Amino acid sequence: MRVVEAFRESYGMEPLGVWHAPGRVNLIGEHTDYNDGFVLPFAVPWGVTAAVAPRADDVIRLRSLQAGEPLTIETLDQAEGWARYVVGVFWVLREAGHPIRGADLVIDGDVPQGAGLSSSAALEVVVGTALNELYGLGLTRMEVALAAQKAENDFVGVPCGIMDQAASALGEQGKALFMDCRSLGTRNVPFDLAQHGLQLLIINTGVHHELADGQYARRRQDCENAAKHLGVEALRDVTDLAGALSKLRGDERKRTQHVVTENHRVEALIGLLRAGAVQEIGSLLNASHLSLRDQYEVSCAELDVAVESAIRGGARGARMTGGGFGGSAIALVADERVESVRESVTRAYAERGWSAPEIYPATPAAGARRLV
Ligand code: GLA
Repeated sequence: MRVVEAFRESYGMEPLGVWHAPGRVNLIGEHTDYNDGFVLPFAVPWGVTAAVAPRADDVIRLRSLQAGEPLTIETLDQAEGWARYVVGVFWVLREAGHPIRGADLVIDGDVPQGAGLSSSAALEVVVGTALNELYGLGLTRMEVALAAQKAENDFVGVPCGIMDQAASALGEQGKALFMDCRSLGTRNVPFDLAQHGLQLLIINTGVHHELADGQYARRRQDCENAAKHLGVEALRDVTDLAGALSKLRGDERKRTQHVVTENHRVEALIGLLRAGAVQEIGSLLNASHLSLRDQYEVSCAELDVAVESAIRGGARGARMTGGGFGGSAIALVADERVESVRESVTRAYAERGWSAPEIYPATPAAGARRLV
């Protein structure tokens, strides 16, 4: 294993173990997690692998096979860039009173670049999972996910919800993870596309609109303001949508319309899966995309073109996935239509002078685990 060889070469000894945590794709339930709502992501076959050995002092030595120079971090505030996602997890666990010392780590990631498939969550979760085992902390998978989210919120400073870390920590092969983000209750739902002659294609736009970085926090704020106006704890609690909309205006109104209907779409999709009607979920994916585009306003031209051209090419449904403003779209496609969808999307991008998006199928993979 590459990561073990690199560990030996870097530190002149064997790691104590090797762990892997996957990225995720979200089937449906977008921008609902921080509204106490429902999500349905699954863990993907790509992620982050870490070889780790604990140290007797508080130093963290860190090398990534994807990023430049090895780092030696003596105090946590020295961490910069991607290293903050690693160091943040040490910080959270120490703050919680766990006896975590330093460690030597080598990290190897294969989440496609720019795909918006949560490589950062995978990095946090792999570190959390390794430390949990190495120190016998006895944390549940969900507790590891929560520690990872806290690292991202409070150490890295990104106000993300719990979806990505939970999918990475709790995913199961062949299953999607249904999660109630209020109770944190989860259920692994069988999601076997091959059995139905279907594929879920990821269309990686390869773009990330930097200008949009503050937009995530603004959407959260819109939702919190709307909930306050409506006198509910979170938008999850809105039951009378028409009544709620009549009390709101502008952005708060649009965001509420999205979040409330998106929660219903998650439940409807689960219902179809339970009934064994996977081929019928496409229209829910389409509706989710339109809502994200028009009400939540987190799509972008590259995502819209990916979705529209996939549908023109014969996809049963398609939508942007993840936070938005770039990253990936997903398309549900019958086996015999895969080539025509590829051609349609590739042509639509070429016509606009955009570089061809990568397109590849994703199947639900296992969540975080020890490999060695
Ligand atoms: C990002 C965040 C998640 C979630 C999605 C939108 O991926 O990290 O918590 O809010 O956006 O659904």
